[in-house]
Amino acid sequence: MESTKKVLLDAQNLWKSYGKGEARIDALADVSLQIFDGELLTILGSSGSGKSTLLNSLGGMDKPDRGKIIVNGKDLCKMNDRALTDYRRKNIGFVFQSFNLIAELTTKENIAMTADTAHNPHIIEEVFDMVGLKAKMNNYPSQLSGGQQQRISIARALAKNPQLLLCDEPTGALDYETGKQILVELEKLVRKHGKTVVIVTHTQEIGKMSDRIIKMRNGKITNVIINQNPVSAESIEW
Ligand SMILES: Nc1ncnc2c1ncn2[C@@H]1O[C@H](COP(=O)(O)OP(=O)(O)O)[C@@H](O)[C@H]1O
Ligand SMILES: [Mg+2]
Repeated sequence: MESTKKVLLDAQNLWKSYGKGEARIDALADVSLQIFDGELLTILGSSGSGKSTLLNSLGGMDKPDRGKIIVNGKDLCKMNDRALTDYRRKNIGFVFQSFNLIAELTTKENIAMTADTAHNPHIIEEVFDMVGLKAKMNNYPSQLSGGQQQRISIARALAKNPQLLLCDEPTGALDYETGKQILVELEKLVRKHGKTVVIVTHTQEIGKMSDRIIKMRNGKITNVIINQNPVSAESIEW
């Protein structure tokens, strides 16, 4: 089944190390993976296993030392900074654990800022609708709960109208119920809007809602699990 799916991104033999000699750490040690169009993918691993390094590499925010990341027939690892910026603007939405909203701007202005740099942005009112927060367009981030701020950061990622959303511990800073709402939102983007979503997490249960689970340890992929029957985000518990 997987083989008939369109490959959105093809990462081959990625290496990335920090430090030298004795202190050297391989954050990525020969990592290869494909991301399929329209899938919900979970990258699972404990702290320090290389998840963020991998995600940032796939998103063109970080450059591996070696390897290839093929997107639309081009290798990200060979691109200069300008081409990488263009790639991010066109193709990638990022969601971070810490929201990263600008405090001095209203939520609408936060989103407009990202949308303005995009090639094919969504209408801003539409992305507010997608995350159910139209009423908060003129509020500042500090006037919103953590969960609402994370939904705004998802809306911001969506404003670029990217096919691929990369989410690094998106529920990490949220309480249980709010975290679950965020997962429901991310699930909806895949199942209803046809987006491709990658969720990096150390919470094993989150894998149950996804189509595939990639496990990482010490910079390596140790296991790839295809989940034939993903359950709804609503029904998982951790
Ligand atoms: N900028 C950096 N400088 C030095 N070491 C780093 C840097 N970024 C990551 N590392 C190291 O690389 C390894 C993988 O880190 P990371 O990708 O952040 O893992 P994870 O997201 O799974 O917690 C860790 O050992 C981490 O300490
Ligand atoms: Mg991390």
